[in-house]
Amino acid sequence: MKILGIETSCDETAVAIVDDQKNILSHIINSQIDLHQKFGGVVPELAARSHIEVLDELILRALKEANLEFKDIDAFAATSGPGLIGGVIVGMMAAKTLASVFKKPFIAVNHLEAHALTARLTNNVEFPYLLLLISGGHCQILMANDLGSYQKLGETIDDALGECFDKIAQMLGLPYPGGPAVEKLAKEGDEKRFNFPRPLIDLKDKNHLCDFSFSGLKTAVRREIEKLTGEEFSHFTSPQKISAKDKADICASFQRVVCNIIVNRLSHVDLQGKTVKNLVIAGGVAANRYIFSALQNWANQRDLTVIAPPIKLCTDNAAMISWVGVEKLQRGIFDQLNFKPKARWEIDTA
Ligand code: KG4
Ligand code: ZN
Repeated sequence: MKILGIETSCDETAVAIVDDQKNILSHIINSQIDLHQKFGGVVPELAARSHIEVLDELILRALKEANLEFKDIDAFAATSGPGLIGGVIVGMMAAKTLASVFKKPFIAVNHLEAHALTARLTNNVEFPYLLLLISGGHCQILMANDLGSYQKLGETIDDALGECFDKIAQMLGLPYPGGPAVEKLAKEGDEKRFNFPRPLIDLKDKNHLCDFSFSGLKTAVRREIEKLTGEEFSHFTSPQKISAKDKADICASFQRVVCNIIVNRLSHVDLQGKTVKNLVIAGGVAANRYIFSALQNWANQRDLTVIAPPIKLCTDNAAMISWVGVEKLQRGIFDQLNFKPKARWEIDTA
């Protein structure tokens, strides 16, 4: 079984073909980073236009790379939400059209479920597993019970973790996307220099013990920058006034407190008597090796194995979309051609 998957929900146009033996036969990603970099974030309309411009050619390249023709594909899968709706529509319409023309099933994929299941493609992880989904748009702790069955145990009440990395990078004048830049600079910094707050941690409300909040942390970083520069924060002038050493120390101290928060939240998870062997980290922030090691230290004391897919499969890609297609089609699950694109689509309703 071979599935062609399309990902267009944010700023990557990606096409991949994956088979049911877990071979990635093609894996193409066209990043729009250059397009959005000068704005410090993704501009939805520009993203959608760029998806339209390149998608057809990427689909043909994916087939060529895999040495396949359209008739060899068993189903066409596309991210159908959640995401920037213009982009989602572009990818989903392409997959529906191919499905209709070649009389093959169309599979509507939830982008979050795709991140969640990647570890089953790369590391053969069995259900149930604990899942930390940390991306540019999400920050959740989930129990992955089965395909299509996810129980949310906690989530952010404000910013996503990736978004927080991106905003802090922006305040420091680092390039977009901010996560990799913050991780790199943090390696040179003193992680104990700044004592940033851990929002929600002291709140003993038992309904929120696994929830996250990052907006206060972001504000604390801004205040620290104001103390260092001696003036009110401005995106235009402040980054240039912070020394390289101060920037590195802020990144390192920020990452340390983030790990501290994640570990604290995970420690409150109630496994409800389930035998869980793995903690899977998914989403773009799962590419962060510092966070990975911190989680490994924590998990080692609890007989849990931490699994993060290889970096190129942590950030947005289409192999993860094809893989959900494989898992669904293996169970006879596919969608109708009138499936509506969804800007919002919770994983626990996927
Ligand atoms: O999953 P993803 O590619 O897109 C979404 O679906 O959101 O995640 C992108 C996010 C960005 O916020 C980016 O800064 C962050 O993942 N990211 C990282 C790293 N690599 C990417 N954050 C921290 N450390 C990294 N190494
Ligand atoms: Zn993503």
